[in-house]
Amino acid sequence: MSNAAWIFGYGSLIWNPGFSFTDRRIGYIRGWARRFYQGSTDHRGVPGSPGRVVTLVADETSTCWGAAYQVASSSVDSVLSYLDYREKGGFRRHRVDFYADTSDDQHALQGVCVYVAESENPNYLGPASLSEIAQQIFRAKGPSGPNTEYLIELAEGLRAIGVSDEHVFSLEQQVRLLETSVRSG
Ligand code: SIN
Repeated sequence: MSNAAWIFGYGSLIWNPGFSFTDRRIGYIRGWARRFYQGSTDHRGVPGSPGRVVTLVADETSTCWGAAYQVASSSVDSVLSYLDYREKGGFRRHRVDFYADTSDDQHALQGVCVYVAESENPNYLGPASLSEIAQQIFRAKGPSGPNTEYLIELAEGLRAIGVSDEHVFSLEQQVRLLETSVRSG
């Protein structure tokens, strides 16, 4: 099986891959940080009122944990077409080295496909304070559902694979507080 048949997910692909796969491995990529810096106008927001989803930001001190999926050679083209469409709001394919949590450096899977929304894309929002990001997520909704659902599913998906992510978990905490304060008037 060629490495081209592996896809690394760090956002919605962790909890909702949406395609069939033959293997799934938990692990990380080096030199990237997961951040809620990408605007979403087609899934978790709408034009004029975008939501926020995660992208990867280059950071040589960081590792980003997630899940890599092995796709059967016969399905690679159709899976990539599906993902190109799903991620069309600013994401492009990149190639990275993936380290499974059980492997050493010699056994990295090279050339694994990952979708990254870079700062040049028109929907990119970039950094903001955690409180601003939390409020935007709290308010936004789009054709795929509320932006809060994306955040909470991601936080729960990360916990399910034993990964701690301070950026995601802090936002989850802030959004849950906003939900509680609205419920209690
Ligand atoms: C990913 O999950 O790997 C890409 C970003 C997303 O769709 O949330």
